[in-house]
Formats: sequence, C-alpha cells, structure tokens
Amino acid sequence: MGALLLFGKDGQLGHAIRNSAWFGSAPALGRSECDLTDPAAIRAAIERHDPSIIVNAAAYTAVDRAEDEPDLAHAVNAAAPAAMAEIAAASGAALIHYSTDYVYDGSRSGAYVETDPTGPLGVYGASKLAGEQAIAAAGARHAILRTSWVYGPHGANFPKTMLRLAKERDALSIVADQWGAPTSVGLLADVTRRLIDGFSADGPGPSGIYHCAPAGRTTWHGFAQFFLMCCGQAGATLAVDPSSIRAIATEDYPTKAVRPKNSVLSCRRLEDAVSMAMPDWQDDVRALARQLAGVQ
Ligand SMILES: NC(=O)c1ccc[n+]([C@@H]2O[C@H](COP(=O)([O-])OP(=O)(O)OC[C@H]3O[C@@H](n4cnc5c(N)ncnc54)[C@H](OP(=O)(O)O)[C@@H]3O)[C@@H](O)[C@H]2O)c1
Repeated sequence: MGALLLFGKDGQLGHAIRNSAWFGSAPALGRSECDLTDPAAIRAAIERHDPSIIVNAAAYTAVDRAEDEPDLAHAVNAAAPAAMAEIAAASGAALIHYSTDYVYDGSRSGAYVETDPTGPLGVYGASKLAGEQAIAAAGARHAILRTSWVYGPHGANFPKTMLRLAKERDALSIVADQWGAPTSVGLLADVTRRLIDGFSADGPGPSGIYHCAPAGRTTWHGFAQFFLMCCGQAGATLAVDPSSIRAIATEDYPTKAVRPKNSVLSCRRLEDAVSMAMPDWQDDVRALARQLAGVQ
C-alpha cells in the first residue's frame, strides 16, 4: 500500500477510515491542522507528507445551510478538492474523493448509473458536482465515490437523531416519498481500502466515478422504522412504537434545500472494479442499532 494522507479525520467517514486497521498510523488531518478554505495550507500539507494516495473525507455537508453559504460550500467542496487534484497530478499521487447522490435531480424512475445526466437541486449538490468536475479536469489518477445517506457511530446523522427523538416523543412523522439507500461509513471505508489496493498495484488504477451504496432501497420513513425496530430488539427503551411512525410527504416537512425524490444508485461499476457485492442496506443499519441501543 502506498503512503496515505487523510483529510477530514474528524467527520463520520474520516473517523471510520482512521480507525480501520489498514490505515495504520498514516497522517490524518482535521480542520485545526489544515483549513480547506486555504489552498496554500492544502499545498503545504501535501508537500509535507508527500503521499502517494490522498483520501479526502472532508466536505461541507450541511445541505440546508449551504443555501445561505454558497461561497463556503464551493470553497470546501469544489476549490479544495480541485487544489488536491492539481497537486496530485503534478506529484503522481492518486486522489480518492467522495461525492453525493444529490448531484442528481431525482426524476429518474429506476436506479441511477454513473453516466446519467446530473442536475443538482441545491447549492450542496452543485458544489459537490463542481468538485467532481474539477478533479476530473486536473488529470490526476482519481476515484470519486458518489454515495448516499451516510451514517456511522461518530458524528451527527439521521439514525442517531431518530433514536434520540424516539426516546423523547411518543409520536413521529417521517418523509416517505424520497427514495435512496443508507450507506454506512464501514462500507465506504472497506471500499476505500480496495480502491487504495487498486491504485497501489501497477497500472493506472481504478480511476473514475463510481456509485457506492448498499443494495436495495428505502425511504427516510422506512430507514427510521427499520432502525428503531432494531434498536428496540437490541434493548433500547423507546417512547414511540416504530410501527406507529407516520409516513408523510416531502411537502409536509419543508426544508430550505430541495432534495431529490429518487437517488437510488446502481453500483455495478464499483462492484466490478473492487470485486465485491454490495451488502443489503439493512445489514449495517442493524449493526449500528446494536452498537447504539445500549449507550445512547
Ligand atoms: N453525510 C451524508 O449524508 C452524505 C451523503 C452523501 C455524500 N456524502 C459525502 O460523504 C463524504 C463524507 O461525509 P461525512 O458524512 O463523513 O461528513 P461529515 O461528518 O460532515 O464530516 C466532514 C468533515 O469535513 C470537515 N470540514 C468541513 N469544512 C472544513 C474546512 N473548511 N477545513 C477542514 N475541514 C473541514 C469537518 O470538520 P469539523 O469536524 O471541524 O466540522 C468534518 O470533520 C463527504 O464527501 C460528503 O459530501 C455525505
């Protein structure tokens, strides 16, 4: 495996990557070591560590707040990965980066493939798409994983919010007309390791854009219901009966940013590239419930 450098060590995914056995004691940077709005700091960090593979798990991920902070979202999600890719192109390093299902407008009826037209509905998706395009234009070896509905044990995310609310309230209403697949940071870290192996071998490596999400599809309502049911089975005491959670329409839960109604991702290209079949989305959700049920 080549020398690694991780950006975004304190995020959900960053935690999972640096806690993976394969990551070892490779350098991992957070905001205090490298502010990604400062291109000179990015250059200095990469020159100091001289990695052969850069993994960028940092991002501006506040989907609604991005509508009010487009410059900051673009700086972190587009300009920063652009700088990483330009430096990587010059040094011969490879860049592994993560993007989002929100680059799509959600109007497709089935699962999206990587070549489908993009059409972000909000600032966050547009900034992530600009990051993808800048990376591709820089000419470095790169792999971009477009993923969806990311969750893990560290940091704030939908299932953790659901568990807190389910302990506080005896009734919940969740959006049931946005379709996608919840992706665990464990799956993303595992795929990342396989991509690193690909880039470490002779040849160009697995360059390109890949979808990365588990198999199957659900809604936020289905995700919440299944997760809370598993939490109950794992011993959590809930104020709400998961089967009673009300299914509501997007229109009944207005948010600042518009989200795609369908962002189910076909992952066949990735499965071929890293020689693995995506697990069912329920598998890691069940595991998180077991992990959190006793502690939250
Ligand atoms: N979360 C999702 O549902 C989701 C869905 C689809 C795709 N993705 C993509 O998946 C990847 C991983 O997401 P995640 O959920 O792990 O994100 P996350 O938990 O929000 O972590 C992002 C990290 O980026 C850091 N960061 C933000 N601005 C920075 C700056 N100016 N300088 C340095 N660091 C900065 C944050 O630092 P602080 O800790 O200091 O704030 C945070 O640690 C991202 O590319 C994201 O776009 C996420």
